[in-house]
Amino acid sequence: MNAKPAYTVAVVGATGAVGTEMIEILEERKFPVGELRPLTQDSFEGVDIALFSAGADISREYAPIAAKAGAVVIDNSSAWRMGKDVPLVVPEVNRADIAKHKGIIANPNCSTVQMVVALKPLHDRARIRRIVVTTFQSVSGTGKEAMDELLEQAQDLLSFKELAPKVYPYQIAFNCLPHIDDFLPSGYTKEEMKLLNETRKIMGDDSIRVTATTVRVPVYVGHSESVNIETEKKLTANEARAILCEAPGVLLYDDPVHKIYPMPIDVAGKDEVFVGRIREDESVPNGLNLWIVADNLRKGAALNAIQIAEELIAAAR
Ligand SMILES: NC(=O)c1ccc[n+]([C@@H]2O[C@H](COP(=O)([O-])OP(=O)(O)OC[C@H]3O[C@@H](n4cnc5c(N)ncnc54)[C@H](OP(=O)(O)O)[C@@H]3O)[C@@H](O)[C@H]2O)c1
Repeated sequence: MNAKPAYTVAVVGATGAVGTEMIEILEERKFPVGELRPLTQDSFEGVDIALFSAGADISREYAPIAAKAGAVVIDNSSAWRMGKDVPLVVPEVNRADIAKHKGIIANPNCSTVQMVVALKPLHDRARIRRIVVTTFQSVSGTGKEAMDELLEQAQDLLSFKELAPKVYPYQIAFNCLPHIDDFLPSGYTKEEMKLLNETRKIMGDDSIRVTATTVRVPVYVGHSESVNIETEKKLTANEARAILCEAPGVLLYDDPVHKIYPMPIDVAGKDEVFVGRIREDESVPNGLNLWIVADNLRKGAALNAIQIAEELIAAAR
């Protein structure tokens, strides 16, 4: 991409939960936008950067068309993430991979982004061998219809009305669903496998073992994760805190004596990945427990995509 004073940016899926956030963040961060095209058509002539956030089917069909027309596509969907020629990027972790793109760069799944931002600095210091993660994912991770469904169900339940779930298979208000994305024959869900495959690709280490349980919870915005890691070298809780204090994109929020720990209601609208409840896992020699929370619409999606776009224009200068 050539350097320009201002860029033509297309947002595909501009009316969605992520697309809306993308437009706000472009403005907030004063991204040099010459023209903003909120489009869903195949009219990508003259577009420099195309931010896709309209689901995997649209990305599969239109991202190659946009790339062929000369745009660099930054895709939020799962369509291209594991593609051999498609870098999967979280700038704090693997910004160097951006340069390898051939027209399409993938944004990881929201639950993976926040986990790798917090874990990469620990991996660099002590080499993570195994990750056991349980997620508590907000309804905004499903999109705007799911956010409406949570509100409607909460109102209906409080008015003793019958519920008719549409987006989720069961009631989500005042409930937890251990089911995100489709089930696979193994019994895991696709969302759980994303945490394994994407973590390995972004961290550039196929030897990391990951097992995940992903749970949808009745929270509007902000995914939380209970993460247990085993490392090759011993890391004490204090050493982990010191590493994370210096880590890019991380905000250490860990003072249990004063009831300081991250919660989605505080983290929604923020850019950082918040980490708290750091404890040594006494059941194994080199284990740590962490509680990781981030805004899934921002760092988990829109913000990460725009950070990639910022890296692209910085490299063009
Ligand atoms: N939500 C998150 O936290 C998150 C995180 C990471 C990645 N993602 C990914 O980002 C993408 C969008 O998610 P979202 O949460 O923003 O969903 P959403 O709120 O449901 O929004 C979907 C957007 O895509 C558009 N769209 C849907 N089908 C279309 C079609 N056939 N043709 C043209 N436009 C179409 C919608 O337009 P209309 O307004 O016209 O319906 C809307 O703008 C998905 O691929 C999702 O997996 C989401």
